[in-house]
Amino acid sequence: MPGAGSAAGARRRGLLLLLLLLFAFSAPAAGFGSAKKAYMKEKVRKMFYHAYENYMAHAFPHDELKPLTKTFTDSLSELGNLKLEHLPQNYNGSALTLVESLSSLVILGNYTEFVKGVLWLSDNLRFDVDARVNLFECNIRVLGGLVSAHILATDSKSRLEHGLYKNQLLDLAKDLGQRFLPAFETPTGLPYAWINLKYGVMENETTETSTSGCGSLILEMGALSRLSGDPRFEAAALRALRKLWSMRSPLNLLGTNLDVVTGEWIEYSSGIGAGVDSFYEYLLKAYVLFGSDEFWEMFHSAYLAVQKYFRHGPWYHEADMRTGKATYWQLTSLQAFWPGLQILVGDIAAANSSHREFFYIWERFGVLPERYLLDHNMLHPTEKYYPLRPEFAESTFYLYQATKDPWYMKVGETIVNSLNYNTRVDSGFASIRDVTTMELEDHQHSFFLSETCKYLYLLFDDSFLADENYVFTTEGHPLPIKISWHEKLPAAYIPSNWTSLKGGNLAVGLSALSQQVCPATSSGLSISPQIESACHVPDLHSDHRCRIDDECGIDSSNCRKRVCSMAGYCGLWLFVL
Ligand SMILES: *[C@@H]1O[C@H](CO)[C@@H](O)[C@H](O)[C@H]1NC(C)=O
Ligand SMILES: *[C@@H]1O[C@H](CO)[C@@H](O)[C@H](O)[C@H]1NC(C)=O
Ligand SMILES: *[C@@H]1O[C@H](CO)[C@@H](O)[C@H](O)[C@H]1NC(C)=O
Ligand SMILES: *[C@@H]1O[C@H](CO)[C@@H](O)[C@H](O)[C@H]1NC(C)=O
Ligand SMILES: *[C@@H]1O[C@H](CO)[C@@H](O)[C@H](O)[C@H]1NC(C)=O
Repeated sequence: MPGAGSAAGARRRGLLLLLLLLFAFSAPAAGFGSAKKAYMKEKVRKMFYHAYENYMAHAFPHDELKPLTKTFTDSLSELGNLKLEHLPQNYNGSALTLVESLSSLVILGNYTEFVKGVLWLSDNLRFDVDARVNLFECNIRVLGGLVSAHILATDSKSRLEHGLYKNQLLDLAKDLGQRFLPAFETPTGLPYAWINLKYGVMENETTETSTSGCGSLILEMGALSRLSGDPRFEAAALRALRKLWSMRSPLNLLGTNLDVVTGEWIEYSSGIGAGVDSFYEYLLKAYVLFGSDEFWEMFHSAYLAVQKYFRHGPWYHEADMRTGKATYWQLTSLQAFWPGLQILVGDIAAANSSHREFFYIWERFGVLPERYLLDHNMLHPTEKYYPLRPEFAESTFYLYQATKDPWYMKVGETIVNSLNYNTRVDSGFASIRDVTTMELEDHQHSFFLSETCKYLYLLFDDSFLADENYVFTTEGHPLPIKISWHEKLPAAYIPSNWTSLKGGNLAVGLSALSQQVCPATSSGLSISPQIESACHVPDLHSDHRCRIDDECGIDSSNCRKRVCSMAGYCGLWLFVL
C-alpha cells in the first residue's frame, strides 16, 4: 500500500504530470523517461533551495534552521549531547548548514552561490570558541565539509579566481584538525568523544565513546593530511582505527561502546546501525580513497562477520561480539545505508533485497521510523521519529547507479513526494516527531542539505560524476579518488611516536549512559548485564524495590516494560526473544 503522503503528493502535481506521464509511458525506459527525470530533478532542486534559502534568511550564520518558528539553533555543541551538558554560554554558531551545503551547491551547478559561501566562511569562520563538541559529528560535518569544499574550490571546474581563493578553507580545516589532536592523547590512542575547541579535553571528561565515534575519522583526517602535508591528522585517525580493530573478538565482531582510557568494551552488543555504522563504511571507503590493503583486509573480515552473525534474510539484527548470539531484533533508520555500502562491494543481490524491505517499511509509514521492533512487529515505543534522514535515499541512489533499473527512480519519486507532503513547511523542511501522527518537530538538520537532497538529486542527475570518481563521506561530502593518494607512503610519514601521551593518572569517568547498565535480573533471564540500549529506563529505586509497576523502568535487553513482582522487585515477566 503506498503511503498516504505519496498518493496525495501525486494528486497535487496536477495536469502537468499527466502530460509528463503520457510522455514517459511512450519512452522505452519502462516508466521513467527523460522528461520525467528532468521533472524530478527540478523538484529536488526546488527542495534544496527551499531548505537553503530559508536557512540563509532565518538562521545563518547560526548552525541550523528551526523552520516552524523561523529561528535558529546553535546545534554544533548539542550534536550527540543527549543530556545537553557543558553547553557553551557564548557561542553564536559556525554557519554549520552553510558549511554542509557547499558541496551540494557545486553538485547543483550553483558556483555563484558556492563562491559567495566560500568567501564568507574564509572571512568569518573561526574555531577559537569555548564550545565542547562531539569529535565524530564535528569531523564529518565541519571538517569534511571544509575539506571537500576546498577540493571543489581548487579543481578545474571551479570558477573561483585564483586571486580570490588562497586556500582559506584548507587553513580553517587545518586549524580545526589541530584542535582535534588533544582528544587522541590517551593511553590507547583512541580519541575522547568530546573536545572543547578552545581548551582541549575537559576535566573529568567521559572516557566512553562509540565504535563509529573513534573508527570513522580516517577519510576526513587522511584527506586533510594529504592536502596539507601534515601527517599528524592521518596518523592519529589511523592509530585509533588500528587499536579499535585490535579489540575485535575472535569472531571479528566489535561492540558498540568502549572506554578510551582502558581500551575495554562497555557494550558488547552491536549491529550495523547507530554507534557502529560508519566504522564499516569508512574501512571500505578508506581502501577506495587511499588504496591501502590494510583497510581492505580489515573491511573484508568485518564484512564477512556482519553477514554471518547479524544477517537474517534481508534483515540485520544485533549480536553479542563475544558469542555471535542475537541480542536485539530491530530495524533502525540508520541501517538503511547498508545496501549502499554493499553496492560498493558489488553485493548487488543482497543490497537489493534489504533495500526492498526498507522500502516496504517506508511505504507503510510514509517515511522510515527511527526504530522498529522486528521481534514484536511494532514501532519502538519512543523512537517514532524521522529527522529527515538520508540513508534510504542514499542506498536508492547507489542501487540505481549499479543497476540502472528505473524502478529505483520510482522509489526516489516516492521519497521526494513523501518528503514534500509530510515535512515541507513555509520556511523549510521540518523533522517528524512521530511517524504515526506526522506531528512535526522544529528542526531542519544540516544533513538534509548535505545528504538527503544531494542523493535524491544525484539519482535524477548524475552529471557531477561524469568525469571524476568520488568517494562520498558518511555526511555526503565528495572526495575525489586521486591516484597520487594511492601511492605507497614513506614509512616515516606516520611515525608511531608522534604524540605526547599524558601521564597514567587519567581518571576513568564513565558517562551517565554507561552507569545505567541494568543489573542482572534475579530471574536470570537477562541476556547480559552489560547490554544496554537507547530504550533503557532505570527503575525508580536503585535497589529495584517497587510497590507498583509504574515504579519499574524499561529493560535494556529487550526494550520491554519491567513489572513489579509479588515480592516487590522490578523484573521481567514476559520474556521473548
Ligand atoms: C555572540 O553574540 C552576542 C550578541 O550579539 C555577543 O555579545 C557575543 O560577543 C557573541 N559571542 C561570540 C563568541 O562571538
Ligand atoms: C544559486 O543560489 C542562489 C541562492 O539560493 C539563488 O538565488 C540562485 O538562483 C541560484 N542559482 C542557480 C543557477 O540556481
Ligand atoms: C572532577 O571529579 C573530581 C572527583 O570526582 C571532583 O572532585 C572535581 O570537582 C571534578 N571537577 C570538575 C571540574 O567537575
Ligand atoms: C531486486 O529484487 C526484485 C524482487 O525480488 C527483483 O525482481 C529484481 O530483479 C532484483 N534486482 C536485482 C538487480 O537484483
Ligand atoms: C620518534 O622515534 C624516532 C625513532 O625511534 C626518534 O628518532 C624520534 O626522535 C622520536 N620522536 C619523538 C617525538 O619522540
